[in-house]
Amino acid sequence: MSSDLRPLANKRILLGVTGGIAAYKSADLARRLRDAGAEVRVVMTRAATEFITPLTMQAVSGNPVHLHLLDPQTEAGMGHIELARWADAVLVAPASAGFMAKVAHGLADDLLGALCLATAAPLALAPAMNRLMWSNPATQDNRRVLESRGVRLFGPAEGEQACGEVGPGRMLEPHALVEMTAGLFAGGCLSGLNIVITAGPTREAIDPVRFISNRSSGKMGYAIAVAAQEAGATVTLISGPVVLPVPPRLKRVNVESAVQMYEAVLANVRDCDIFIGAAAVADYHPVSRAAHKIKKGQNEMTLVLERSPDILASVAALPEAPYTVGFAAETENLEVHARAKLAAKDVDMVAANWVGGPDTGFESDENALLLIWEGGGAELPCAPKDRLARELIAVIAERYHAKNKAQTS
Ligand code: C5P
Repeated sequence: MSSDLRPLANKRILLGVTGGIAAYKSADLARRLRDAGAEVRVVMTRAATEFITPLTMQAVSGNPVHLHLLDPQTEAGMGHIELARWADAVLVAPASAGFMAKVAHGLADDLLGALCLATAAPLALAPAMNRLMWSNPATQDNRRVLESRGVRLFGPAEGEQACGEVGPGRMLEPHALVEMTAGLFAGGCLSGLNIVITAGPTREAIDPVRFISNRSSGKMGYAIAVAAQEAGATVTLISGPVVLPVPPRLKRVNVESAVQMYEAVLANVRDCDIFIGAAAVADYHPVSRAAHKIKKGQNEMTLVLERSPDILASVAALPEAPYTVGFAAETENLEVHARAKLAAKDVDMVAANWVGGPDTGFESDENALLLIWEGGGAELPCAPKDRLARELIAVIAERYHAKNKAQTS
């Protein structure tokens, strides 16, 4: 797959098809969007079904096709508002002259028109019509209105038309439309990058019912995963046991122990551009796990522990290591310990935070971070973890791109 199409991975594309001869190309378009990793749902106008069957579009998109605005059956499942919310982008291809007029005037008298009004996602139209219909002042006025409202117009192209005339009005070819749709997502600072993030605590089993663990809630790591995804990255979240919901559309790998987390990271870190170790990994685990529940008896008992593998340091030491970011949770001398960690683990950045206080750290919804890298640093003041995560991602993206630029120049 072309690297230009990488932003389409895991994106939800709502493909609208209106009535025009170019609708036969919409099947190829849907297939190419899926090949690029997008999930595709198709909405057809009644006129579109005269040119290509819903069955064809269902087969190529892999999802049922949506046809009617007020069909009680579909509204009970995925109704027009859910569909509008579901979409990361709406692409109407082909978009007829009549459909352009409908969107320009905000008419919601069919499913696709209503969706275009109800969605907050980027909307792109790929016009396809006879050259005189395209050049008609009414259509050109509609084009200007649409563009002034931020609707993207992909094409049309010039050339031979189905009606035998030559001029502007041909729908762009599916491969070009797929590239332009990918371009809708290319603005994110981590667009097209693969990121692996660890989050949450680990549990180190003592016997079948007992374990050693820590107070990590996973909130920070999960917020970072969501922020990275918003910034255009494809995210793999390797998570210890937490009670947080799985953020939609990212790959989550569930693990329990430090050794399992280590193995899951190594299995997923190939082709990864950035690794963020936000998990609170147990430094030690019991040498052996008792097969049965340990019975009480003696007044004292000794648990023998051994060091867990250092996941972050192992990733940083890989021959083609990704940009690595580690966390340092400290109760004293924050900056000194963070600088020492940067050097000891040979990572690109350390995000240090105070823990142990009542209002910040592991279980709270707020946090503050001190970021340190070779030759620089930044302070991110106390903020809710989702906002802090976005700020952290912006700094990581900036440092990642700066490092890449330095290496390639
Ligand atoms: O050495 P320390 O535990 O303070 O380092 C914290 C950082 O290292 C965090 O980013 C944590 O996710 C990571 N770490 C790790 N594997 C370990 C211990 C810590 O990846 N065994």
